[in-house]
Amino acid sequence: MKVLIVGGGGREHAIAAAVAKSEKCEKLYCAPGNAGIAQLAECVPIGVMDFGKLVGFAQEKRIDFVIVAPDDPLAAGLVDAFEAAGVKAFGPRKDAAILEGSKAFSKDLMKKYGIPTAEYENFDEAEAALKYLESAAYPVVLKADGLALGKGVLICKDHEEAVAGVKEIMQDKKFGSAGNRMVIERFMTGREVSVLTFTDGKTIRVMASAQDHKRAGDGDTGLNTGGMGTFSPSPFYTEEIHKYCCEHIYQPTVDAMRSEGRTFKGVIFFGLMLTEEGPKVLEYNARFGDPEAQVVLPRMENDLLSVMEACVDGKLEGVELNFRKEAAVCVVLASDGYPVSYEKGKAIHGLERFDGQSEYFCFHAGTKAEDGEVLTNGGRVLGITALGTDLKDARKKAYEAVEWVDFSNKYYRHDIGKAIDEA
Ligand code: GLY
Repeated sequence: MKVLIVGGGGREHAIAAAVAKSEKCEKLYCAPGNAGIAQLAECVPIGVMDFGKLVGFAQEKRIDFVIVAPDDPLAAGLVDAFEAAGVKAFGPRKDAAILEGSKAFSKDLMKKYGIPTAEYENFDEAEAALKYLESAAYPVVLKADGLALGKGVLICKDHEEAVAGVKEIMQDKKFGSAGNRMVIERFMTGREVSVLTFTDGKTIRVMASAQDHKRAGDGDTGLNTGGMGTFSPSPFYTEEIHKYCCEHIYQPTVDAMRSEGRTFKGVIFFGLMLTEEGPKVLEYNARFGDPEAQVVLPRMENDLLSVMEACVDGKLEGVELNFRKEAAVCVVLASDGYPVSYEKGKAIHGLERFDGQSEYFCFHAGTKAEDGEVLTNGGRVLGITALGTDLKDARKKAYEAVEWVDFSNKYYRHDIGKAIDEA
């Protein structure tokens, strides 16, 4: 098969590494890709929102299967565009990608179908939101309705902060049109777990659990980022919790989407909070998480391409997922100053140390190749993943490998996986 992956970050590198191993994959392309993906695939300089060029490329190269990985093109209907041109594509159609694309939609869906989540109200007008805040219990969580690069969620400890938050989201439009609507929800406490699943619209298969570290600084301080590191599995996601989630959250979500006439095929990422009252949904994503994919996919034993085909073809019932018993830890190497402002174009040294050893992976996120060198080209630069006999061993190895690579403004958190010690 000729396969095209749309995207160019660490998640897409992890997907490319898995797809490249498939015997079914004869030729792999990636648009736009990055310097790491270029070692596995032919990268083509087409942006993920350039639907016309992407579809034209797929037709010209007679691509058999496209994998659309990032949220923005999914929400804008790239899978629909490929399908309309007769090209098979993995990922939810636009009407199903709304599960991530509209927080108000997803909250209403959960309420309608009894899926556990925090209490909330949706608002179309800032005035109504401000009125509601006068009698709200604090802290509250404000969420811009639409996609906002993972930044449209504000946790406000008191009325004053919440009023400022409503102004930012709905009046100043800090997150653009994502803030035309907003959700105000009750603040939940507990451990967060990320659970990625495959679905063909009817059957759901659950991947290994993971935990992300969203804040920029050690000790969960600083600004929210796309994710500074992950580990898998989460020791807090027990078999009992898993059973509860399958029954009350995962399958009900797939069934709810089908009942709404929005059959979801692809990956549903359940962002869960393990509260004292039981697991609840914090958020849905309509795609693999990043850097969750960088710990979950290296542990997956199945042929990823075959599983994705089964999702598109409605044949997931015959698939059983298997994961290596080894644990995985990923530490993101970022450019100092991320997520606010940072320099790019720094030479990266030491990449040759990752010589295909099966326990160490160096997934490229923001990198580019220029004049024989690999240069930094983004906030998150690399994801260093290691497998180990258990989480502690994996963490030790990941931090060893972090030292193999260098660039002048390298920045990373030193406490990825610290929660393991509390398990
Ligand atoms: N790591 C969180 C996300 O991918 O949205």
